Formats: sequence, C-alpha cells, structure tokens
Amino acid sequence: MKKDFITIHDLSTYEFQEMMDLTEKMKKNPGKYRKVLKDKILAMIFQKPSLRTRMTFEVGMLQLGGEAVYLAPSDIQMGSRESVRDIGKNLERWVDGIMIRTFGHHIILELAESTRLPVINALTDLLHPCQAMADFFTLREKKGHLAGLKLAYVGDGNNVCHSLMLAAAKAGTKMAVATPPGYEPKPEIVAWAKEDGRDTGFELTITNDPVEAVREADAIYTDVWASMGQEAEKEARRKIFQPYQVNRELFSKARPDTYFMHCLPAHRGEEVTDEVIDSPNSIVYDQAENRLHVQKVIMMLLMGKK
Ligand code: CP
Ligand code: NVA
Repeated sequence: MKKDFITIHDLSTYEFQEMMDLTEKMKKNPGKYRKVLKDKILAMIFQKPSLRTRMTFEVGMLQLGGEAVYLAPSDIQMGSRESVRDIGKNLERWVDGIMIRTFGHHIILELAESTRLPVINALTDLLHPCQAMADFFTLREKKGHLAGLKLAYVGDGNNVCHSLMLAAAKAGTKMAVATPPGYEPKPEIVAWAKEDGRDTGFELTITNDPVEAVREADAIYTDVWASMGQEAEKEARRKIFQPYQVNRELFSKARPDTYFMHCLPAHRGEEVTDEVIDSPNSIVYDQAENRLHVQKVIMMLLMGKK
C-alpha cells in the first residue's frame, strides 16, 4: 500500500480485491481486530459537513482500540489561519494519521506531501474513494461477485461518480453513466478508469440518456444534483437535472431485482423519489453501514503495524 489513501486509482487490482476480502473478514469477526490500532490517534479535518463520514471514522477508530479527534471547519481555518503545509507538519508531532474532507483536490495532495503521516481522503470536490469502496463492498455482499455486473449512475458526473468509475475499473464491473450535457465526468478521471480497467472486463458508457443507462443494470446509483460547495447553482441545476430523477418510471426500465444505491444525504423529491429510496430494492443503509467496515480496513492498513 502507498502511504496515503487518496484515490482508488493508486491501488493495484490485487490490493482492491484484498481490501474487499479483508473487509468481509473484519465485518464477520470484529472482535479479532479490537486492538490493532491501540493507542493510535486519527485527526479528522472537516471543511464541509458530514454525518456518515464523521461517525464511521470515529466509531471505527474506537472499535480498533484507538481514538479520533474532530477538527471542525471553523477550528483550523485551513489555508487562511495557517497554511496546509504547517498544519501537516504540526499534526505529525501529535497523531498517527489524518483524515480530511475538503474542497479542491490539490489541498489533500499538498497535505499528503507535507507530512509523513498517512492521509485518507474523506471527500474532495474531485473524489470520494471511501464511499466507492463501501459501495462496491455492498454490491459484492448482495450479488456475491463484482466482475460482469452493470452499475448505472444517473445524475451529476461528480466526485462520487468519479470514484465509482475507478472502483468499477478495478472490479471489472461495467458502468453506464447518464448525465445532462455538460455535466459528464471529467475526462482525466475517465482516462484513469479506462487505463485501470483495460484488463479487468470493465466497460464504460457515457450518455445523456438515463433510460439507455439503466437498461439491464444490476444497480442504479444517484447522488445530489448540487454537491457541497455548489449551493449557489442549486436552483439552476434543479431544472437541468429534472429529467434525470430516479423515480418509479425510470426504475421500471431496469429489471425487477435492480438495486437502488445512493451515498446519502439524499434530497428526496429531487434526484430520487421516496417510493424508490424507500422500496425493498433500496440498499442505501447497507452502503452507509459498510462505510464503517471498509474504513476500518483502510485505517488498519495505513496506521497499523506493518
Ligand atoms: N456519504 C457521505 O459521505 O455522507 P456524509 O456527507 O454525511 O459524511
Ligand atoms: N457529491 C456529494 C456527496 C456527499 C457525500 C457532495 O460532494 O456533496
């Protein structure tokens, strides 16, 4: 493993599979791992709000025998009160790892560069790798395997979409992404995914047609239309994305056993309707639960005894 967990693109296909296997083992037998991070401390830097990420990292550290310290957006005022580099240099004198949720992806790269501590990406504007690891683990639990499945992503070609593509590439899962014109995933991430998925069975379709994307899908995934930091665009986006709502009609174009997935928080009535997210096909709370298990593995690998 590299020092940091910043993007799934950095993992080998073998490491990706190993992390899935290890998550299964740890979830089945959590007691065995109760002390693997004994006396270790994780600093959690949040420049954006969170429920799942904060809870699962903090609870995960406690379950592994360590502790976590929460740094709220107003606490350290990264970049204005103090430079990113100085924050990295200070933290390495006190703790054993850093988790960060921030805006520009360059900030996490600068932090990782500034410190010998492992740095974990808990969401940037570009990527949300812990989420995608949990999502693919959830799909694997439900279907028994990942290779050859088809995941449809409908909505904004955002951080979550990017990390899902990178995970699909490692897993050999086919992916269809449907976005409004102009909201497609970034070409550099598409290029990474294609490079990583060359020999795994990964296939990628990018379209503006949601019906085409969901056809024969094993799971349909969506995320908010305006991400954290895009609040000013919310109204404009609401109109543009309306045809991409995951509702009963769109769902009926897939198979009866197709799963519904969402990273949460959901804006019910926007990207997804209540009847879809509350249906028996919805696995959104399993995804949320699995954030805990996957991140425990990430922290053990990066912060535990080598
Ligand atoms: N899915 C996710 O990252 O949730 P939070 O924003 O609540 O952490
Ligand atoms: N795309 C969303 C994901 C939230 C977990 C955002 O960045 O706000």
